Amino acid sequence: MHRIEFSKQLILHAGRKVKVLSTLELRSISKRFGTFVALEDVSLRVEEGEFMVLLGPSGSGKTTILRVIAGLESPTEGSVLIDGKDVTNLSPKERDVAMVFQNYALYPHMSVYDNIALPLRVRRVDRASIDKKVRETAELLQITDILGKKPSEISGGEQQRVAVARAIVRNPKVFLFDEPLSNLDAKLRVTTRGFLKRLQKELHVTTVYVTHDQSEAMTMADRIAVINRGRVLQVSTPTEIYRNPSDVFVAGFIGSPPMNLIEGRIERNGGRSFVFANVRISLKKAIQEGEVIMGIRPEDIVLKDKMEDGAFPGKVYVSEPLGNIQYVTVDVGGIKLVAQADIDFRAEINSTVFVSFKERGIHFFSKETGKSVI
Ligand SMILES: Nc1ncnc2c1ncn2[C@@H]1O[C@H](COP(=O)(O)OP(=O)(O)OP(=O)(O)O)[C@@H](O)[C@H]1O
Ligand SMILES: [Mg+2]
Repeated sequence: MHRIEFSKQLILHAGRKVKVLSTLELRSISKRFGTFVALEDVSLRVEEGEFMVLLGPSGSGKTTILRVIAGLESPTEGSVLIDGKDVTNLSPKERDVAMVFQNYALYPHMSVYDNIALPLRVRRVDRASIDKKVRETAELLQITDILGKKPSEISGGEQQRVAVARAIVRNPKVFLFDEPLSNLDAKLRVTTRGFLKRLQKELHVTTVYVTHDQSEAMTMADRIAVINRGRVLQVSTPTEIYRNPSDVFVAGFIGSPPMNLIEGRIERNGGRSFVFANVRISLKKAIQEGEVIMGIRPEDIVLKDKMEDGAFPGKVYVSEPLGNIQYVTVDVGGIKLVAQADIDFRAEINSTVFVSFKERGIHFFSKETGKSVI
């Protein structure tokens, strides 16, 4: 609670109104480096105070999108709007966005204090105000005791906080974060992501946050934009993206372990069924015949030790216990499926188990386009 009060104070003390809300919009952005297409027709709207996460694999164009928003890169086509105003031709400084880079980009010869103070000095804020603002921000981020140190004398987690402090010290219109947690160890990453999410909600600044870590995206985002090969594949809430992926890439990228994706075909013989390996599953869903990719999450696969209606046999390849549950990899006619089972389920290697799918967990994707066909 103390932290909430403090951050409100922080914004009030800045001498501005508490309301620091902006919208951000990308309209049909393309970016080419020579002949290489880094971004293709990227359109995205981020609402006031929203925490938007750009999620995608390495090289998908996430940093390029942030750099275009910040004005560090100009798009080949398309425009960037902040608060409805076209800023495509404005310099980074004129856009009033703050970016936390992948490598923090702290100045090594400057103290932590001077690193945080820099954006205010550049804007010619008076000395007393700078001092007050730096100390308040440092307290908010719990780095007051390291203000006198150099970046090389502090830990990775502390460097990360200094970089965040430097970004928030001047109440920008938009925060841009480029994988800010990637240099932290696993435990610190989890605590820091909670801290950052909380901080963003308290400061209520429109934010675009880049990561390739789907669990980071799921836990932090108001909405996620999934990026692959320079294109936006789906923009939605984490829950919606998890439940209804619109594309086979999104389906395989979200979730850990990921959705099982099985190539097969839809056949008609009275009713409709999905056929793969030596298995035929009858479906209630109306779907066109032909080649498809079926997707099913581990928690939607049911394992039993006895044959039941609609089930088919498989052989346990391996089981990975995780406290209260286990992930069981089952070989079905050469296809490996990962199922989530109760920890008490007996899943000895090479034993036979009986597999069935929860129908509501079944997804189908076009083999040609990868798009959802339900
Ligand atoms: N200045 C540049 N000149 C040429 N190609 C570039 C340039 N900047 C980026 N690229 C290319 O554009 C693509 C997207 O790069 P980008 O840095 O945006 O990816 P990313 O999604 O941030 O990846 P990572 O997760 O590895 O940081 C990559 O293939 C990259 O090699
Ligand atoms: Mg990057």
